[in-house]
Amino acid sequence: MSFDVQALRAQFPILEQTVNGKPLVYLDNAATTQKPRAVIDAVTAYYEGVNSNVHRGAHYLSDKATAEFEAARATVADFLNADREEIIWTKGTTEGINLVAQSHGREQLQPGDEVLITALEHHANIVPWQQACERTGALLKVVPLNEDGSVDEQAYLDLLNERTRIVALSHVSNSLGTVNPLKRWLKAARDVGAVTLVDGAQAVAHFPVDVRELGCDFYACSGHKLFGPTGIGALYGRRELLDAMPPYQTGGEMIETVSFEKSTWNKLPYKFEPGTPNIAGVIGLGAAVRWLGQQDRAALSAHEDALLASATEQAGAFDGLKIIGNAATKVGVLSFLLDGAHPADVGTLLDQQGVAVRTGHHCCMPLMDSLGIPGTVRASFSIYNTLEEVDSLFQALKKVQTFL
Ligand code: ALA
Repeated sequence: MSFDVQALRAQFPILEQTVNGKPLVYLDNAATTQKPRAVIDAVTAYYEGVNSNVHRGAHYLSDKATAEFEAARATVADFLNADREEIIWTKGTTEGINLVAQSHGREQLQPGDEVLITALEHHANIVPWQQACERTGALLKVVPLNEDGSVDEQAYLDLLNERTRIVALSHVSNSLGTVNPLKRWLKAARDVGAVTLVDGAQAVAHFPVDVRELGCDFYACSGHKLFGPTGIGALYGRRELLDAMPPYQTGGEMIETVSFEKSTWNKLPYKFEPGTPNIAGVIGLGAAVRWLGQQDRAALSAHEDALLASATEQAGAFDGLKIIGNAATKVGVLSFLLDGAHPADVGTLLDQQGVAVRTGHHCCMPLMDSLGIPGTVRASFSIYNTLEEVDSLFQALKKVQTFL
């Protein structure tokens, strides 16, 4: 099947607009992806024809909403190669990591235990562990980076020891695009008896993920970086661990029985889903995953690789531009600095030319500190970007240089 980027773009209505009088060049996909018509239609159809609460009503619409809601869970479970009971709906990756840190982490960590993360992590995979360590007396250990923005594998292996209880690793770095070779790292973590969590926020839109093949205990991801709605995400957890964990939040729906003396908990996955969930978000995420499943993912990956290769080549030839993050394995993220220019000014001047990028620390202050920079300009690519848009980025950057 040949890949037709224009046909793909035509499914994303937002991409047709102009910004500041210029065609929109949307290169902020690591912050959030745009939504295809299939997702927008699924959410609209839910509100127009199905809207009702799930798991509660004795009526037609509630049954229909419940069926669609649970069908989406089965879709996401298949997508990650998990069982349906092992998929917990969350607000997104951040809530998934908080759930594990506060439920499993606070329950299991003892003084002197260690939690291992890397210097690549964004705040969502740092702060919840910092808090869990503070509350329990455990220690947070950080694996340093190599100069190219990859994690120092030997340092990782050296830091793993019998006191390491939890290892929390990003699959892909949001600010540099580095892809971590997780399969062997997770095995090494298992070998010392650690429980593992993968922050998959930046991975799932770029390549297929199989949690069983990876060998992780938890995998957290967000719908909105996967062509789905904001405010919805999925947490995969290995059933034995989820069964043993106390609830993260309490209320209706997550209980089996309640009396004023004592409550007991519902079975998985509902034990972790109190209150009325984001039903439209779940249905939209299910639609996004189904839509992605209908695409030729190998062709999408090849296209993204071509975008990154072109961007990297043009960046390398661009006077006064320094790429930040040159790991051998990356997804479509180009982080960079322009000589003598603050990233925020570069971002503003690109925006004036219709080019949307993110600038700053990208929610990775410790990473920026370890690189000795205040932040970067980040262009992040997705399946619907074109090689012409990559060219537009560099034409716009040339103009930025003349302005500054
Ligand atoms: N984590 C998102 C980003 O990298 C918000 O921009």
